[in-house]
Amino acid sequence: MSDGGTSRAGAFERGEARKTAERLSYLSGFGNEHSSEAMPGALPEGRNSPQRAPLGLYAEQLSGTAFTEPRAHNRRSWLYRIRPSAAHPAFTRAADNGGLRTAPFTDVAPDPNRLRWNPPPEPPPGTDFLAGLWTLGGNGDATQRTGMAVHLYHADASMERVFSDADGELLIVPERGGLLLRTEFGLLHVEPGHVALIPRGVRFRVELLEATARGYVCENYGSPFRLPDLGPIGANGLANARDFLAPVAAYEDVEGPVEVVNKFCGNLWTATYDHSPLDVVAWHGTHVPYAYDLRRFNVIGTISYDHPDPSIFTVLTSPSDTPGLAGVDFVVFAPRWLVGENTFRPPYFHRNVMSEYMGLIEGAYDAKAEGFVPGGGSLHNMMSAHGPDRETFDRASAAELKPQKVDDGLAFMFETRWPVTLTPQAATAGHLQQRYDDVWQGLERHFRPLH
Ligand SMILES: [Fe+2]
Repeated sequence: MSDGGTSRAGAFERGEARKTAERLSYLSGFGNEHSSEAMPGALPEGRNSPQRAPLGLYAEQLSGTAFTEPRAHNRRSWLYRIRPSAAHPAFTRAADNGGLRTAPFTDVAPDPNRLRWNPPPEPPPGTDFLAGLWTLGGNGDATQRTGMAVHLYHADASMERVFSDADGELLIVPERGGLLLRTEFGLLHVEPGHVALIPRGVRFRVELLEATARGYVCENYGSPFRLPDLGPIGANGLANARDFLAPVAAYEDVEGPVEVVNKFCGNLWTATYDHSPLDVVAWHGTHVPYAYDLRRFNVIGTISYDHPDPSIFTVLTSPSDTPGLAGVDFVVFAPRWLVGENTFRPPYFHRNVMSEYMGLIEGAYDAKAEGFVPGGGSLHNMMSAHGPDRETFDRASAAELKPQKVDDGLAFMFETRWPVTLTPQAATAGHLQQRYDDVWQGLERHFRPLH
């Protein structure tokens, strides 16, 4: 559908995709041992790999963690498919990687400055999700399965090709335009305000439900995202497991050329299959895609005083080998009440050992009066000093502290243990704001010494 998203055929296809998206049903629960079959009897009973799988299907395991990782963290799925994934010709290097870059990022000196970007420019007509990916920066090393990358996407065409990422899982955060994700496991529908999580190695295609689509992607090279521990919060709260929706099995029985793109150790490789690899008729397991509505997040905050640390807004975490230290956390600033007494209620001034990339899905963010806009983003690398801008500080310091509903925005953060190093394209982008530091200018001296 490389029609720039403007032709009548493109509009018809988007209409059909939307009808499909709105009819979907799902399986509920993060980390469950889900199972699904698109055809009765397709899923073997009592064993994973019978001598002959039902309905003439091939049995295949897809591992998301090493076989031997602890049971509670182990991720794998069994797929029952028309052809095994092995039935493909050789991959060849793509001519280029487009705007996609992969860690280690070494072309630009890590920048201690506070940085902010406006939304990216319009894509050239005919840009699909994969071609529209543009890497801002990241850390770690994809070949060592550590760290993460921040990407933005901007597309105006549905994918005809199929993509998979061997380098990491993809957390897709739409900001504009709904998406229909056709995955090996079935179909997911996400709109702005939702997120989709595509596990490492899972093949998928992105179809647009509007003329354009724009948003953010966290590529997590490290351990798979999981729900954070709740500690004294208890058995419920934050993102509830049952609100994560996995697809039901749905397959394509398509004979004919299909381009499959594989991201491997930083490069795109392509092969033309003689069939669709989205041919899984039944599956069971734990290594599965999810959709999640961020407005389902159970926001917890103070009911006495002070602004708690934003770790209480963690939706998903990718733990490292050090307890409590995430490779990357995904954090949401969802609608909430502020009731703290004698409290400066917006986010406080701080310097953080972690590095923070923030994006805005809609509305405004309560620490910034202007300049931080939907589709844009900010980067506060480790130990960079930041917090409310002058206007926000002045307003919040004088505000009458009655209960206040903050419900005019939806912001998020990718918070990571290592500094985020920019790609050259992000460091030199025309949409990088040149005067972001100015928001902290004019913070007046209020000190009144006793003597
Ligand atoms: Fe911060």
